[in-house]
Amino acid sequence: MLVDRLGRPLRDLRISVTDRCNLRCTYCMPAEVFGPDYAFLPRTELLTFEEIERLARAFVDLGVRKLRLTGGEPLLRRDLPELVARLGRIAGVEDIALTTNGLLLPRLAADLQRAGLKRVTVSLDSLDPEVFGRMNGLNVHPQRVLDGIEAALQAGLSVKVNTVVQRGVNDEGLRELWLALREQAVVRFIEFMDVGNHNGWNLDAVVPSREVLARLIADGTSAEFRPVNPNYRGEVAARYVDGEGHEVGLISSVTAPFCGDCSRARLSAVGVLYTCLFASEGTDLRAALRAGASDAALRAQIAGVWQDRRDRYSEERGEITRAHKVEMSHIGG
Ligand code: GTP
Ligand code: 5AD
Ligand code: SF4
Ligand code: SF4
Repeated sequence: MLVDRLGRPLRDLRISVTDRCNLRCTYCMPAEVFGPDYAFLPRTELLTFEEIERLARAFVDLGVRKLRLTGGEPLLRRDLPELVARLGRIAGVEDIALTTNGLLLPRLAADLQRAGLKRVTVSLDSLDPEVFGRMNGLNVHPQRVLDGIEAALQAGLSVKVNTVVQRGVNDEGLRELWLALREQAVVRFIEFMDVGNHNGWNLDAVVPSREVLARLIADGTSAEFRPVNPNYRGEVAARYVDGEGHEVGLISSVTAPFCGDCSRARLSAVGVLYTCLFASEGTDLRAALRAGASDAALRAQIAGVWQDRRDRYSEERGEITRAHKVEMSHIGG
């Protein structure tokens, strides 16, 4: 089995299909940086669906079992359901997921389901129109995301919700959000992270997960939460249920890093392979692809990168500073 220098296998591949997004979340693509003149990638630079499929097969041959499509906002990529169908036909793929802001789900959920998608993860940070409008940078109303979630459920997809928590920004409405969504979706609260180079991260803005959990039970109407076993080894979210069996997930990359089990590789929309969310450099697989590399050569290149991997950024945070990190919009979280 292929393992990295810390003994971690390669299990997950997260594939970014575009660097564009129809939101400007302050913690990811702040509007001051990603403005009207921002140079997004031209279409010819992006991997084609054929190229993505070919690389995905190479990764699956090396042990990957789970694929996740990300962006930017993946639903902005034309004909995305076709890519889902192609990836679903690869023998060995056990799970395909999609991370989206939900805005285009009313248009696309049914096609995605027909293409074989079973689940989506929708980002939603607040139900308060003012708070969410500010956080998404474009004053988009939370109802539009709720409509997307509803469309996904109607189409037969299961839904998880990701909420990035920032102190003094959206930390007042966490319980309300969880109560409103817990019957339809598994909500996961994420500690605000120092991804990319522009989101003004500082430790004071992080609400530790244990505090989030305390806030969910703050008014005492819900029974205590108890931890439940992970769904699979290396699950990023720690799962809890309340007395009525309602689940909540806590993703504690800052206060309880999970690098020890990290089996995730990330492929950018232009085909650069990153072995960590906080990497500063990657490996250009598109160059090899377009130079006519054989499947065996691609596999060997990827295996070499993985065998050399020693990333554990979240565990080292505080000890090291990294001058330049890959942008979230290039590797989708
Ligand atoms: P499933 O358990 O398969 O539903 O997905 P997941 O929780 O692994 O994936 P998802 O993309 O929903 O992860 C949720 C969030 O956790 C991401 O948006 C990131 O903010 C964070 N996250 C995911 N993977 C990593 C990782 O490898 N390192 C760090 N530091 N954070 C991660
Ligand atoms: N910290 C934590 N999570 C983040 N995401 C984006 N930026 C950050 C950050 N700075 C998450 C979003 C979304 C996914 C794409 O990544 O919530 O679910
Ligand atoms: Fe777009 Fe998602 Fe980043 Fe928000 S977090 S700007 S929705 S890619
Ligand atoms: Fe994996 Fe890097 Fe995240 Fe650690 S910080 S869990 S090594 S992606």
